Amino acid sequence: MHLRSYSRIALRQWQTYHSLNLPRQCPQIARYFQTTSRALVIKPFLLADIGEGIRECEIIQWFVEPEARVEEWDKLCEVQSDKASVEITSRFAGVIKKLHYEAGEMAKVGKPLVDIDIQGEIKEEDLAALTEPGQGEESQAQAEDMAAPTPEPTPAPGTLPIPEKEPKPKGKHASLATPAVRHLTKELDVNIEDVEGTGRDGRVLKEDVYQFAKQRDTASTPSSQPTTSPAPTSGPQTETVTQLSNTQHQMFKTMTKSLNIPHFLYAQEIDFSGLSKLRSRLNHTLAKVPAANDLTKLSFLPFIIKAVSMTLTQYPILNARVDTDPKTSKPVLVMRNQHNIGIAMDTPSGLIVPVIKNVSSLNILSIASELNRLQSLASNGKLTTPDLSGGTITVSNIGSIGGTYVSPVIVEREVAILGIGKMITIPAFDEEGKVVRREVCNFSWSADHRVVDGATMARAAEVVRAFVEDPDSMVVHLR
Ligand code: COA
Repeated sequence: MHLRSYSRIALRQWQTYHSLNLPRQCPQIARYFQTTSRALVIKPFLLADIGEGIRECEIIQWFVEPEARVEEWDKLCEVQSDKASVEITSRFAGVIKKLHYEAGEMAKVGKPLVDIDIQGEIKEEDLAALTEPGQGEESQAQAEDMAAPTPEPTPAPGTLPIPEKEPKPKGKHASLATPAVRHLTKELDVNIEDVEGTGRDGRVLKEDVYQFAKQRDTASTPSSQPTTSPAPTSGPQTETVTQLSNTQHQMFKTMTKSLNIPHFLYAQEIDFSGLSKLRSRLNHTLAKVPAANDLTKLSFLPFIIKAVSMTLTQYPILNARVDTDPKTSKPVLVMRNQHNIGIAMDTPSGLIVPVIKNVSSLNILSIASELNRLQSLASNGKLTTPDLSGGTITVSNIGSIGGTYVSPVIVEREVAILGIGKMITIPAFDEEGKVVRREVCNFSWSADHRVVDGATMARAAEVVRAFVEDPDSMVVHLR
């Protein structure tokens, strides 16, 4: 409380000081800001390296415009990489002088994103991270600190916390908005002056426009029919163009790249009876005595993930990726020692594939716990780029929804993927010819047939089967 009002006073003093354009001598204020050095010129603010191998990202929307004042941690823009969409926040307070890209353009990692007039004083270590124009290529590491992708920034000590959740009046900036928001208002036929902005100083954000249009349309639509799905009529066919969501857009790009991979499909029926019994026993125990990480239940997936990892130890080719040797331009296989298993997840915003890292070092309980963590972040849209990066093979359990067989599509930089169908109970013959109850589940593998031959895939899949059908055999391999 004290800190907040103290900071507000400091902010007002700071702004007054700037508006008076006095010589830069204000030691008291400088102390509040914990500053030690000064920057008087406009600096290019570089796009950080936001994940392994990502060279460029699409600018989805800007939250600022030229001449807008930004504070430390203010959102600058949202970018979409191959892996995820990320909000880029400002590390500095200052005035935006130039946006280097329009929304929809591809921004290069390590190149200037915006020019910012850092009018205030900055810390020595931050000053060191600033890059002179023209040095962009050399200083990607410095750039990482410049425009840090920060999904949920926590104000640093000494910075000015911006009050949250206070209802914001329609301010003098209410009609100020980014080009993307203005485009949206045109698309939805909304007058920006009518919209109450919830952004800084009452700026109108995309969500405000959507919310306004939704309320307007609900009020004026007599039935509750969703506008995107017109009721069938006896008139002529109508076609409505709908923009792809960010996740669909990403899926479009990733899957189009996957088309270059010749897929080899291998499917097998796995007897889940033993695993099912073991899971019931363990869940019975966990219900009474939760595991250290508060885990009270296991699904089938952690066992399957572990079985896949143990198989990769015997078949490392399935954990590799295909690349091109820069010297010879010939294709090569890049082998990888860590088993980073991507898990396809169905989330409210669509398909997303977070990664459980270094599975060979985890036991079943820690895999389950990591799975829960990622699942919970995914359903809240809170996954970070590290959560989504570095996958070496993917497992897609579509069977939790339904389906018997699946033809899974291999993800770029991987050579194999496992699709799991729905476990069902069937009558089967035992060794003595008696009819017995069996629980079975189909596993469908896709492998990159340029580098993985059918026999290798079949042998590896049979090793996975052996582990899953006899889960006790996994125990001796567990750490
Ligand atoms: N067959 C039958 N039942 C299954 C199953 C399968 N293959 N997989 C899971 N289940 C059961 C679980 O045991 C659990 O039942 P229970 O409550 O009785 O124990 C229930 O279904 C729900 O499981 P879930 O919460 O989904 O856990 P999970 O660890 O099996 O899967 C996810 C987690 C995130 C992978 C899963 O929820 C998901 O999103 N799957 C969809 C993946 C997808 O969309 N793939 C397609 C990509 S193109």
